[in-house]
Amino acid sequence: MKVYKPPMGWNSWNTFARNIDEKLIMESADTLVETGLADCGYNYIVIDDCWALKERDENGKLVPDPEKFPHGIKYVSDYIHSRGLKFGMYSCAGTLTCAGFPGSYQHEFDDAASFAKWGVDFLKYDYCFRPTTVPGDILYKRMSIALKNSGRDILFSACSWGADETREWIGETGSHMWRTTGDIWDNWESLKKLSKVGLENAKYGGISRFADMDMLIVGMCGNGNVGLGGCNFEEYKMHFSLWALLNSPLMIGCDIRNMSDETKQILMNKEVIAINQDEESNVPFNIKFTKVAAHKNDDIMLYAKMLSNGDYAIGAFNFSDDETNFWQTNFTTEKLGLDEATGKTLLMKDVWTNETETVKNGIIRLSLKPHTFKLFRAKVVDK
Ligand code: GLA
Repeated sequence: MKVYKPPMGWNSWNTFARNIDEKLIMESADTLVETGLADCGYNYIVIDDCWALKERDENGKLVPDPEKFPHGIKYVSDYIHSRGLKFGMYSCAGTLTCAGFPGSYQHEFDDAASFAKWGVDFLKYDYCFRPTTVPGDILYKRMSIALKNSGRDILFSACSWGADETREWIGETGSHMWRTTGDIWDNWESLKKLSKVGLENAKYGGISRFADMDMLIVGMCGNGNVGLGGCNFEEYKMHFSLWALLNSPLMIGCDIRNMSDETKQILMNKEVIAINQDEESNVPFNIKFTKVAAHKNDDIMLYAKMLSNGDYAIGAFNFSDDETNFWQTNFTTEKLGLDEATGKTLLMKDVWTNETETVKNGIIRLSLKPHTFKLFRAKVVDK
């Protein structure tokens, strides 16, 4: 059986938008390998929008822009594969892509054939310029069935921004991931907005189907296409931890050729990645907690996910902007199926600091300042 984990890799859009070419793509492939990112699991290199010419050829086929890709797409694809990586491309369910290049509407089987011929392993499929007469689920079914008949295994990444209740029908379309929101921006407000709908969507995911909270902004630091303001490194860690816990794909969006050590440390935290890539892709859930201090808003999140080896991943996130909204909470292991009678408790390991602590009397106590978080891997142990 073919089983996917949340895809990990790099996508050109967040930083480069239309400023892409074969040199950038091949250098980024080299960087994934040479920095050790590939060994951590980041194995897709995805060319987003703006790779094609504005017109199809006389046979109706998509044509790569010869200035950006002078040796064609297969050449880039072969290079990426020769580095042990996988190759992703982009198209759109409408007549045009979001940046105005040809979309695949009514060209689905032809375009799927081109992608297969070029050795594509991943297709991101956008939702701009779509006909109002055809429902979204049909548009995604068309391309999905075309890809599944293309003779090549191609991971299908739907990008309909959560519109038209995507999560209700996405499972019918055979897509492996679906975008839950509009585009991410590299700032705190955007992170907060996207995080708020994260869990509602993650519930609809499972084996080989993932709620895509959009490409990562870790390490963008205000640079590039979506670089509006930037975040500090604690906020980037929080972002990475939440995406990992909620089974979101982990597609890097910064310029990996110029990463700082801090960015690398975030992206390469193997324990966080292991929580994301867990074999069972179990559905994350909300833990009900007791309020200790007065909470002024609902910007606090406490989530857990059962892992395939019998551990739990537990994450607590304080998204409040009010400095006085210091969050203190108690919650009981009973909420995780570990009531008093089991004789068991949890050994909690903070996956960022490596500190460990055994839970006493079944009560987990946490206190978090605004814009901070905790992510634990918790092992079931005897009391
Ligand atoms: C949409 C998508 C983005 C990106 C651009 C490309 O906005 O949501 O992720 O692919 O289109 O034009």
